[in-house]
Amino acid sequence: MHCYYHAVAILEKSSTKSISIDSRRLVCTNLGRSAAFSLNPRREITSLTTRFVMVGKYLTVYEFEQKKPIIGISSFVHDKASVIGDVKIGEGCFIGAGAVVRGDYGIIEIGDRTSIQENSVIHARPDDKCVIGKDVQIGHGAILHNCSVKDFAVIGLGSRICDFATVGAWAIVGEGSVVSAKSNIPDCKVAVGVPAKVLRDVRQDEKDLWSSYKKKYTELAKRYKTGLKAL
Ligand SMILES: CC(C)(COP(=O)(O)OP(=O)(O)OC[C@H]1O[C@@H](n2cnc3c(N)ncnc32)[C@H](O)[C@@H]1OP(=O)(O)O)[C@@H](O)C(=O)NCCC(=O)NCCS
Repeated sequence: MHCYYHAVAILEKSSTKSISIDSRRLVCTNLGRSAAFSLNPRREITSLTTRFVMVGKYLTVYEFEQKKPIIGISSFVHDKASVIGDVKIGEGCFIGAGAVVRGDYGIIEIGDRTSIQENSVIHARPDDKCVIGKDVQIGHGAILHNCSVKDFAVIGLGSRICDFATVGAWAIVGEGSVVSAKSNIPDCKVAVGVPAKVLRDVRQDEKDLWSSYKKKYTELAKRYKTGLKAL
């Protein structure tokens, strides 16, 4: 197991969309370029090629058998989260402390502005995928296994979304609920319970409220990059 380092790169010509981190190299995937960097004793990134300006801090992002996570440059990943292997994380995402996003024998895809809150676990079956759309909110301690969650959905805290299940766009899964294997929560429905059953339609005022919370998480992703300091 290797230890990797997170860095935010601001390319002089600033067309970089995503980066992946190797133990001593930063790779701008859309440009096919890379830059070496080094660390001071406080594990801050200090030197790099002149093409890049970087700020950064220690993070646990792991390669697994040559598969490396690709993380949007504006996304925040807490240094106590684990992001492993074949994982793509879009822009503006927030990955909280203790979250595990594990793409070892499967693939994980996470869309832009999605928040994966503390202690959530995302995993996929061998040669399969767990796909989470954009603007999705995954509450604290949720488990998503080899499932599909569409754009704007809310996964309540502590809930479980099991193999081959689908949660539709704008749907809300109540806290502690279990969306059982192969089941489908349609778009714009609230589902609760174990196993989760549809309760009602999602109202417009709920969409507005959740949109405001999601916006806050995207703002938090930005604030955490500079505002979080280990003491
Ligand atoms: C799921 C949710 C939309 C339900 O809201 P609601 O429509 O106001 O629901 P109510 O409280 O009126 O309850 C309606 C029924 O559903 C049941 N219910 C509500 N939430 C439930 C849950 N999580 N699990 C099981 N049953 C639940 C209630 O017991 C009630 O049942 P009854 O009619 O037999 O008495 C709401 O609780 C919610 O938004 N939860 C997500 C919260 C969350 O996880 N936030 C953090 C995310 S980061």
